[in-house]
Amino acid sequence: MSVEAGQFMNAVEAIGLRKVYKAGKKTVCALDSIDIAVAKGRLFSFLGRNGAGKTTFVKIASTLLLPTSGSVRILDHDVVNETARVREDIALVPQDVRPYYHLTPRETAHSYLRIRGLAREEAASRTQWVLDEMGLSEYADVPCLQLSGGLQQRTMVAMVLATLAPVMFLDEPTLGMDPMARRNVWKIIEEIRSRGSTVFLTTHYLDEAERLSEELAIISRGKILFRGSVRELKVIVGADYRAIMNRNVPRELLSGFDTIVEDGGRLLVLTTREGALSLADAASRAGYEISVGPVTLEEAFIRLVGSSEIDEA
Ligand SMILES: Nc1ncnc2c1ncn2[C@@H]1O[C@H](COP(=O)(O)OP(=O)(O)OP(=O)(O)O)[C@@H](O)[C@H]1O
Ligand SMILES: [Mg+2]
Repeated sequence: MSVEAGQFMNAVEAIGLRKVYKAGKKTVCALDSIDIAVAKGRLFSFLGRNGAGKTTFVKIASTLLLPTSGSVRILDHDVVNETARVREDIALVPQDVRPYYHLTPRETAHSYLRIRGLAREEAASRTQWVLDEMGLSEYADVPCLQLSGGLQQRTMVAMVLATLAPVMFLDEPTLGMDPMARRNVWKIIEEIRSRGSTVFLTTHYLDEAERLSEELAIISRGKILFRGSVRELKVIVGADYRAIMNRNVPRELLSGFDTIVEDGGRLLVLTTREGALSLADAASRAGYEISVGPVTLEEAFIRLVGSSEIDEA
């Protein structure tokens, strides 16, 4: 997608975005000339290691933080000069924020919708819908104080998704949720998208990003490393299959395979389908355990971000 766009309106468009934090004498360049464009109605995932700059971007795009230079426009409105207008169009699940302890999930979602201008009836029916979808009905009238961490997180996400805002920023929305709860969030996100909202997601769960996103960007140390689809990322890392083996396998077994990545205590061999199958054959004949399958987004991410860090070093 072109960031110069013009023919169509982007929901989120950042041009030359820079953010330098100053803490005493130290400065950190958290965003270094970032260009991003997310077309209306898309689900876009913004991925990167801890400290890469994702939350900084989300804060600027959602009008909570001023950029050092460059611009972000939301549905063609500037986040700095048209802040009030932008706030009408967005909703945000911030990273690490809890609901107000004395309110119940129902009161949390309902009062937020009322504040955003929904009529009482509409707010009540939207609240019931989101509580049901998020598996929160059972806890709807329990003060958040008495809910587990994952249920409090579900309440925050429910409150924001219920707005059906045209542009939603979700900064690690499923953090701390159990696998079923995460899947409920995916289902609602998909529904919200089918109703026309644009979703800007950050997550460290790359299965989630792979399942949901049509487009993604990977940021590393404030710079964009990759922008495109999951499929395009896999092409760039040059593999569609991978084999996982114990790191103690004899190296002669791996001769002829160029892309071998240390992945925790294991070796990840990135290759073609034929390469992976022939390695599986050789490994099992030699009595070594091996697991073979299509490359996942997580493995492509480790390869891309890992090799860029080695290049920098
Ligand atoms: N208020 C601040 N003052 C100074 N430095 C900051 C501030 N907020 C963030 N940083 C620094 O900016 C960089 C980017 O941080 P940011 O929170 O955007 O990362 P992130 O990609 O969201 O990471 P995570 O995945 O851990 O949430 C980091 O080096 C961080 O230490
Ligand atoms: Mg963050």
